[in-house]
Amino acid sequence: MRQAGRFLPEYRKIREEHDIISICKNPELCARVTTLPVEILGVDAAIMFADIMLPLEGMGVELEIKEGVGPLIKQPIRNLRAAQSLNDLDPEADVPFVPEAVELTKKMLDGQVPLIGFSGAPFTLASYLIEGRPTRNFVNTKALMYREPKTWHILMEKLAVSMTNYLRAQIRAGVDVVQLFDSWVGCLSPQDYREYVLPYSQRIFKNLEGTGVPQIHFGTGTSNLLKEMKQAGGDVFGIDWRIPIDLAWQRLGYDVGIQGNLDPAVLLGDIELVKSQAADILARTAGRAGHIFNLGHGMLPEASTKNVVELVKFVHRSTEKRS
Ligand code: CP3
Repeated sequence: MRQAGRFLPEYRKIREEHDIISICKNPELCARVTTLPVEILGVDAAIMFADIMLPLEGMGVELEIKEGVGPLIKQPIRNLRAAQSLNDLDPEADVPFVPEAVELTKKMLDGQVPLIGFSGAPFTLASYLIEGRPTRNFVNTKALMYREPKTWHILMEKLAVSMTNYLRAQIRAGVDVVQLFDSWVGCLSPQDYREYVLPYSQRIFKNLEGTGVPQIHFGTGTSNLLKEMKQAGGDVFGIDWRIPIDLAWQRLGYDVGIQGNLDPAVLLGDIELVKSQAADILARTAGRAGHIFNLGHGMLPEASTKNVVELVKFVHRSTEKRS
């Protein structure tokens, strides 16, 4: 989750000369940035360097990713005509640099660690498209959902179709796992999630089932949505730190995997604090198979490489006898 850019000096150096979108459009550079965290941090998987907003350009949306702010949309989508005018994404034609970068990254990784492909989930993408910028309260998003349900459903449908195409293209190019980022879905009530979101995320997961590629379903602030998110789909659920991991697993059921859930801010503390909080998470998962140790959300720019490297070593040491 935005891990590379948040803090690695090696990445910051590349960013001095290239913006995020230009890195994504240059497969060599993209593959290099994707493999950096594996080399430097010793993590067990690589995540493609891209952004959830990238495929929206291919659907005809003009956007920029502004440093320290996030995605900005030139003409926010707030009516039926705007929603209808979005193209269905044809990844090989509209974003050919993504499958190219996947192929190149797979070659560079040479089987050392699996490669995770991803897309934004329809709700989180719709929220950026409608608000036009990052938001705290999602007022425009919810207003459109409640006042213009037809526009809402058309927009969500288009995003579900395009993200299915996008993830399929990444799978064809060789990613080993896919992750659907519904980062902001925690702002919804369970009943609104069921009515306005679930069918669209579900369509994506169902459509990818036949590929056999494991699916991770991520959100933040989702303590009260876990049952519904499980119904939407996924083999593994990404959770943040607001819920103890054992309680989340209990709510989800033990037939699925779980990913999480250290607060990224803990990495700003000293290493003993980092280790004790990581140990608490590991104690709560009690050696159960199917836990992917991760942060609960993206890396903070202030995090130190040293603490992250120590954390990775600590988790490896603490879990090496299991398996
Ligand atoms: O970790 C990685 O390096 C993988 C690449 C990646 C990026 N964005 C590149 C990026 C991934 C997996 C994402 C996903 C993403 N982008 C999400 C879903 C996951 C999550 O974190 O919730 C979301 C919501 C976005 C949209 C977005 N892009 C935001 C909110 C921001 C933050 C703006 C800021 O600087 O505070 C971005 C910028 C962004 N995308 C960075 C990176 C590496 C930040 C650093 C930079 O400017 O280079």
